[in-house]
Amino acid sequence: MSVLRLTHFTDPHLYGSETESLRGIATLPALTATLEHARARDWPPDAVLVTGDIVQDDPAGYAHFRRLFGALGLPVLCLPGNHDEPGAMRRELNHAPFVVGGFVDLGLWRLILLDSSIPGSASGRLSEQSLAGLEAALTTAGNRHCLVSLHHHPVAMESRWLDHVGLENADEFLQTIDRHRNVRAIVWGHVHQNYEGLRKGVRLLATPSTCAQFLPHADEFAVDRQPPAYRTLELRADGSLLTEVVWVEKNAPGCSRSVYSAA
Ligand SMILES: [Fe+2]
Repeated sequence: MSVLRLTHFTDPHLYGSETESLRGIATLPALTATLEHARARDWPPDAVLVTGDIVQDDPAGYAHFRRLFGALGLPVLCLPGNHDEPGAMRRELNHAPFVVGGFVDLGLWRLILLDSSIPGSASGRLSEQSLAGLEAALTTAGNRHCLVSLHHHPVAMESRWLDHVGLENADEFLQTIDRHRNVRAIVWGHVHQNYEGLRKGVRLLATPSTCAQFLPHADEFAVDRQPPAYRTLELRADGSLLTEVVWVEKNAPGCSRSVYSAA
């Protein structure tokens, strides 16, 4: 496998109800349309990555996620966000093709899945155990390139309200990353917007949500009118990567009108 292809979906915020909306978008139809769009345009990847907020504080939403993503015939790599219930998530997704946390080796890459959720808090933090797990995963990766994924942003998004709910111990996390030479990218969700940066040779990538987006660089909370989106990643044998954010526009094939209906 000289090129490893991933499709990254994040922050679907599902409910048990199939029609429930969040910030003006019915979340299950939005996720369904986003997945259909990816399957029509960028399929199949080697694995799917989902970086948290799978549900909106409603564990009944996991059944929808399991139905949609369990039938793809692909590994589905998951980690929890601040709106997930990690215990329920692990119970609901405790079988193949789902992987929750830990790491997975695919081809020449190691994909690391961190849990940065703190019960009852919108902010994130990596526990001592998570940091030790990251250290071990990077140390034992051999000659594989590493992609590290988590829910919360480990660098400032230059958005005052969002930067109050980022990764509290980002310094410790980045110090761990800096001790190793094999990390090629850090990927997160939570911020509901596109972000691409570079830090000490490591690509920094945030992916918009499969439902409503947040306005970049806003001091106070504000919804952006951008449509749902996902990200494709092409991870190459030399450690380089090619990535693209795909916005699911209103006239896209398979895109249901109800995705965009106002609340
Ligand atoms: Fe979210």
